[in-house]
Amino acid sequence: MTTLVEAAVPAKNRHTRKRSAPVVVAVLHPKGGVGRSTTVWQLGAELALRGYSVRIEDLDQGAHLSRVFDAYPLGLDNLYLGGDAPADVVLLDTAPEAQERRALDYLRRSDWVLVPVKGPEIDSVQALPMLMGWITQVPGVRLIGFLPTMHKQRRASSKYWLGQLKRLAAEHGTRVLPPINDMASIADKSIAGHPYAGVAEEVRGLCLEPVRRSRT
Ligand SMILES: Nc1ncnc2c1ncn2[C@@H]1O[C@H](COP(=O)(O)OP(=O)(O)OP(=O)(O)O)[C@@H](O)[C@H]1O
Ligand SMILES: [Mg+2]
Repeated sequence: MTTLVEAAVPAKNRHTRKRSAPVVVAVLHPKGGVGRSTTVWQLGAELALRGYSVRIEDLDQGAHLSRVFDAYPLGLDNLYLGGDAPADVVLLDTAPEAQERRALDYLRRSDWVLVPVKGPEIDSVQALPMLMGWITQVPGVRLIGFLPTMHKQRRASSKYWLGQLKRLAAEHGTRVLPPINDMASIADKSIAGHPYAGVAEEVRGLCLEPVRRSRT
């Protein structure tokens, strides 16, 4: 499985250089079950396939991601869970966080934040103004965008809430990334189909390449 996905990323697109200070990306949303852990796992694997060394930090006491990581290793040498080995990028898998103080702690550690939005559906969209309020309190952290997850494109409510999400994104000067469909489950135990390849390219172009260029 890993061999197949490695073949999907041309060698010329793989980054091989090691850096000292990692770029830190928090994957954050106030509600539970919106796709944070799946996003971290899949995005981490995609970035590792592109040659970055990636450290995942599981900050959720539920430790769902840690269990998946141990039980279904993807076999990527440059994708780590925890530890303090040097990395190009650190992905923070956060707990559902309705508490401002803890959310601010995550954000203060981060250079970027990526916001998975389940559906989109009413609850996951309506929690966003609160999250945006937290993000604006932390100067220096930048928003990659809203990432619809588990998206059922033919469902009328998904269309409606995707429209609302785009409106909210425009109000806050951010954007909605192309939705991840509802087939990206961690339960598949592989990244077959590469649902997060587009997100990985966004993160590479926006967050990682500028840093690499500034250091060469
Ligand atoms: N794109 C997707 N398609 C289908 N199922 C998905 C997708 N993303 C996540 N899921 C499933 O939805 C559930 C919640 O996803 P996940 O664990 O990633 O969310 P979370 O925000 O980390 O949740 P928690 O609050 O438990 O930490 C899981 O069962 C996961 O397998
Ligand atoms: Mg989780």
